[in-house]
Amino acid sequence: MRYLIFVIALLGLPQAGLAGGGSNVHLDKVDIDLKDRESLRNGAKLFVDYCLNCHAAALMRYSRIGQDLGMSEEEVTTELLTAGGKIGDTMTIVMQPKEAAEWFGTAPPDLSVLTRVRGADWVYSYLRAFYRDDSRPWGVNNAVFKDVAMPHALWELQGLQEAKVETHVDADGHERETITGFTLVEPGSLSPEAYDAAMRDLVNFMVYLSEPSKLQRLALGKWVLGFLFVFFILAYLLKKEFWKDIH
Ligand code: HEC
Repeated sequence: MRYLIFVIALLGLPQAGLAGGGSNVHLDKVDIDLKDRESLRNGAKLFVDYCLNCHAAALMRYSRIGQDLGMSEEEVTTELLTAGGKIGDTMTIVMQPKEAAEWFGTAPPDLSVLTRVRGADWVYSYLRAFYRDDSRPWGVNNAVFKDVAMPHALWELQGLQEAKVETHVDADGHERETITGFTLVEPGSLSPEAYDAAMRDLVNFMVYLSEPSKLQRLALGKWVLGFLFVFFILAYLLKKEFWKDIH
């Protein structure tokens, strides 16, 4: 039992350690549905248009996205390969990590498996938590990842929001500021609801991206359960047959 508790605690650790940026921030839940192809396709488009300039996802190939999301070669070419490239390419970028580190202070990490590390709720909350902060190099800060080096890549869609801050004194007598919410001060091209829906699609795609075989597992799972069910009935009938004469 003690061993079990230890293992459970260990499993929780990486998430807890990485939750950082701002500690104990509130994360909003996102409703992930890998069977929703429309959402995954929309997410893929957003990812290519708004993230792939800076972040690579070098473990993924365009052709695989096409196969998994049921897109023809032509659809992949017109919707996802907007910046050129071939369908068999991996999702790499032109920017060199060294240049990027000079521009941003930190190189934008590869996003292939990031959502598996951070968790979907974290990424969803992060993409909706940029707010105006004139003291930062890009004029924005992030409530989920404090002092992040990333500009608000989606400000055209979301617009610009300001943080509502509450100050309170903690048990040690230190003043602490917590962000309790946001006010939209400059609207973007999407309404707040439409922006949240778009971010849900984007995170849905990023969950798929970080574990593409999940889609196949979901499909396979139904067959496995079906097999087990049939096998159970057969085993039961067999057992009855065997014990018939013994009782
Ligand atoms: C202009 C370049 C740029 C664009 C465009 C951009 N990012 Fe970033 N992003 C960065 C940089 C730089 C960092 C590193 C921040 C740091 O470590 O302080 C970052 C960090 C992140 C992180 C946090 C990584 C971590 O360490 O946990 C996530 C998640 C992320 N980006 C997602 C996205 C998504 C999704 C998009 C598309 C909507 C996007 N980014 C578009 C530059 C960019």
